[in-house]
Amino acid sequence: MIPQIQPWIDKSELFELTKVIKSTYITENYFTKKFEDKISKLTNSKYAVAMSNGTVAQYAALIALGIKKNDEVIIPNITFISTANAVIMAGAKPVLCEIYKDDLCIDYSKIEKLITKRTKMIIPVHLYGLTADMFEINKIAKKYKLKVFEDAAQGMGVFFKKNHVGTIGDIGMISFYGNKTITTGQGGILLTNKKTLYQKLIKLKNHGRIKQGTFIHDDIGFNFAFTDLQAALGVSQLKKLQKIINKKKSIKNKYDNHLLKVNEIKNIKIPKNCKPVFWFTSYLFEDSENLSKYLFKAGIQTRKFFYPLHMQPCYKKKNIVKNLNSNFNISEEVYSSGLSLPSSYNLTDKQQKYIISKIINYYENRN
Ligand SMILES: Cc1ncc(COP(=O)(O)O)c(C=O)c1O
Repeated sequence: MIPQIQPWIDKSELFELTKVIKSTYITENYFTKKFEDKISKLTNSKYAVAMSNGTVAQYAALIALGIKKNDEVIIPNITFISTANAVIMAGAKPVLCEIYKDDLCIDYSKIEKLITKRTKMIIPVHLYGLTADMFEINKIAKKYKLKVFEDAAQGMGVFFKKNHVGTIGDIGMISFYGNKTITTGQGGILLTNKKTLYQKLIKLKNHGRIKQGTFIHDDIGFNFAFTDLQAALGVSQLKKLQKIINKKKSIKNKYDNHLLKVNEIKNIKIPKNCKPVFWFTSYLFEDSENLSKYLFKAGIQTRKFFYPLHMQPCYKKKNIVKNLNSNFNISEEVYSSGLSLPSSYNLTDKQQKYIISKIINYYENRN
């Protein structure tokens, strides 16, 4: 089976991990600081705070930004479910907003009519390595005095204008889950330029204290700490980042060259101001369900797009998510036609040619 995505892990990760194991400092220590510093430099963010995973990192960011019970937070209807669940975890209510068909990110022209007295935040999600329009979103946020949390879980290496995603709102998050452009197994990092927010985040992740080694706690906090084992992977993966980005671009170009000649396949547009990273290579396919079954039988794994939040069984009839009954035609259409194709760093030319030939063959020969 050609996997849809696979991390690029080899002896260079083992080399860094061995250093950590030999040092015996396996909880959060020197390597975590090194990883945070590198990410902060790369993204040009004043502060970077690593946490156990992107979901708890988002929760901490929301708490640091003052989100409370009964607040409303506007999020796109197509995203990984944790974007909504972290809002619920903070006691607030996600409010669903339709996406653009072109680039799959939040349709900012629909945000204003969702704003009520309870609205406190907008969460743009930079989906599939593209960018939501941060210029327009920040403009709306400023007008209504809302906070902006950027879900840049999938956005390592992605830029909006000259800014790395995650650094444009109040706080942003990049995830390092196993399928991301670079990975630490589990892991997330929060980016902010504001010192007060940085200090709140440190306390939230470290039982309410700035430094370890004391049992006197100024605030209520939790344990969202990273480990140096994760950081060792991260430091090693960062050395490969540019190579991974380049390879993914070349994979995307090859798919584009062949697949966009097929009438039944439509591209996803790169928004203006976006410098993307094609960590997943995705298209809209006619008859995607049958195509994916056909490819699976040929040993090719594909992945459907995220299930629209308004259709999620866990939110039905529970009154915990707002706007479930709106018209989400675009989300439904995109969900039913979207597929992500194999796009790992390790994908060979031969494998990609085989995938392309199978897809073309499918459309030429179906009844
Ligand atoms: C858009 C989006 N937001 C949030 C997350 C959650 O990140 P994590 O898996 O690190 O908790 C993910 C997935 O990993 C994601 O794709």
